Amino acid sequence: EIVWFNGEWMKYNEAKISVFDRGFMLGDGVYEVTPFYEGKAFGLKEHLARLQYSLNEIIVDLDAYGLKPLMFEAISKAGLSQKDAAVYVQVSRGVAPRTHYFPDNIEPTVLIYAFPASLKGFENKQWSVLVSEDLRWHRCDIKSTSLLANIKSNTQSHSLGLDENLLVRDGLFTEGSHSTIFFIKDNIIYTHPEGPQILSGITRKFVIAICAELNIEVKEEAFPLSELERVDEVFLTGTTTQVMAVKEMYSEGNNIYDKPEIGPVTRKIQQVFIQKTR
Ligand code: PDD
Repeated sequence: EIVWFNGEWMKYNEAKISVFDRGFMLGDGVYEVTPFYEGKAFGLKEHLARLQYSLNEIIVDLDAYGLKPLMFEAISKAGLSQKDAAVYVQVSRGVAPRTHYFPDNIEPTVLIYAFPASLKGFENKQWSVLVSEDLRWHRCDIKSTSLLANIKSNTQSHSLGLDENLLVRDGLFTEGSHSTIFFIKDNIIYTHPEGPQILSGITRKFVIAICAELNIEVKEEAFPLSELERVDEVFLTGTTTQVMAVKEMYSEGNNIYDKPEIGPVTRKIQQVFIQKTR
C-alpha cells in the first residue's frame, strides 16, 4: 500500500506521524472520499470544491485543487486504474505544541491513498438501519476527521448487525452516520436542506439532479420521525453507499419500518445512477 505523506510517496508502514500532529491529538483536520469507477473519477470537481470549503472553514491555507494530480497518481500507483476504487484525502493542520486555538504558520499534513471499493451490485442490496439520536456538533457541513459521534453511533448499529444509523435531532431526521437520507411519500422526495446540520453530499446533489430529469418532485425539507408511518420508500446516498434502499428500521429494540422490497421510485433512480456512473 502506497501513500502520499509529507510530500512523497512511501509504503504506508514507513509513514510516521508526530505525536504532536494536531490531526492525531485533536482531530484537527478535514477529509474527502472520492469514487473512481474503473479509473474514472466521479464528481471530482465537486469533491475538491468541498475540500476547499472545509479547509477554508477551519482556516487551513492549502489549495485543494493542487492535490488533483496526486489523486490520479494514487489510483495508478495502487494498480487500480481498471478497477472500482476510492481515494482518501486527509489534511490535518500540522504539527505544533498543543493549544486550544489554531496556531499560525504551520505546514499542513497531507495524506492521500487509493483503496479498492465494491461499487457494483448495490441495486441488489437493502440496508437495515438503527434510528438514533444525532450526537454531533453543529457544523456537520465541515467534513471533519473528528468523527467520534458518528463512529460511536455506528458501533451501536454494527453491534446489532445493522448497516447504518439514521440520525435524529429534535424529532427530525438529519442524515446517516456516513450517508444522506431520502424519504419518498406520495411520489414526493424529501431530504434535509443543506446547512450546518448535514454534510452537503456530492451524491445527494447528483441524485437531486437525476430526480429533476425524471420529473420527480424533491422537497429539501427535514423529515419528521413522527411521519415515518406514512413513508413509501427510503434510500441512502453516499460516495461508496451510492443509492442504497432501506429495508427496515429499528429504534430501541422495536421494528418501526419494514419494506421487504425495493420501491419503484428508488429503482428508477438507481437505474439512472448506474447509467451515469458506468
Ligand atoms: N461519508 N453524510 C455524512 C456524515 C458522510 O460522512 C457522508 C460521506 C455523506 C455522503 O456524502 P457524499 O455523497 O459526498 O459521499 C453524508 C464518506 C464517504 C466517509 O466518511 O467515508
